[in-house]
Amino acid sequence: MFESVESSELLERVSGAIRRPIAGLLEGKRFRDALSGSWLGHPVHPTLVAVPLGMWSAALVADIAGDPETARRLTAVGVAAVVPASVTGLSDWLDTAGVEQRVGVVHMAANVAATGLMSAGWLARRVGRRRAGSMLGAAGLVVAAGGGWLGGHLAYGLGVGVDTNAFDGGPTEWTDLTVETSGEKSSGVRAGYAEGVGMVVIDADEGGGPRAVLANRCSHRGGPLAEGEVHGSCVRCPWHGSQFDIATGAVTRGPAAVAQPAYQLRRRGAGWQVRRDEPRALRTNSV
Ligand code: FES
Repeated sequence: MFESVESSELLERVSGAIRRPIAGLLEGKRFRDALSGSWLGHPVHPTLVAVPLGMWSAALVADIAGDPETARRLTAVGVAAVVPASVTGLSDWLDTAGVEQRVGVVHMAANVAATGLMSAGWLARRVGRRRAGSMLGAAGLVVAAGGGWLGGHLAYGLGVGVDTNAFDGGPTEWTDLTVETSGEKSSGVRAGYAEGVGMVVIDADEGGGPRAVLANRCSHRGGPLAEGEVHGSCVRCPWHGSQFDIATGAVTRGPAAVAQPAYQLRRRGAGWQVRRDEPRALRTNSV
């Protein structure tokens, strides 16, 4: 099933058609940063989706327990909670491309359908048609579960929202840093690597050696920081404009929510060495 969704040309066309109006609705860099979770250090959308799903699940339990009034109220709270969950999800979707974007369209459609069913169920309960309200609520929950399943595939299968450096090892002992000498630029950054891990070397072309070294792959969606630019004390990703403090890797501007791995740096003979204090379990196995 995933294969047909991921390769669908129709979904590609739908993505193209709805992308611009959605981007127009969510215009504003600071607004987008707030929606992405830059301030939280974690994407906001996965947290907010728990609210409608929780409310609607509780409504089903209330229905089974014979308390339709509580079910109606829980359904209403769940529908209201869809608004922030949807807005943050749409913002995340705008930063996806290709396969992720196509799966995101179906995820979106399922959630719109679930919200429609839940709203209709609430209305039916409101006018006294409790049985119809219960049936619509149950159907809405099934569709919402399908949407959640696709959301899980986006995160766990396609890595949307995941720190793209989560699995990178990188040297924890002092290791020679190789700096690319081709492609001289005035951007203040250059590509480098150590132990096979790509890095962005800051100010390597100013004659005084590197000023700082960060992981090259942007923690947001994997953009190459070595093709970005230095802005003051930050390096800017060329894909969606996230900025990271060059000394600490901290996010200073979104949409990235997770800090960029920063390397310690020392001179050794004619060259430079880097290392990283990184005990996280996912990064200890460099094989
Ligand atoms: S990949 Fe999105 S800001 Fe870097």
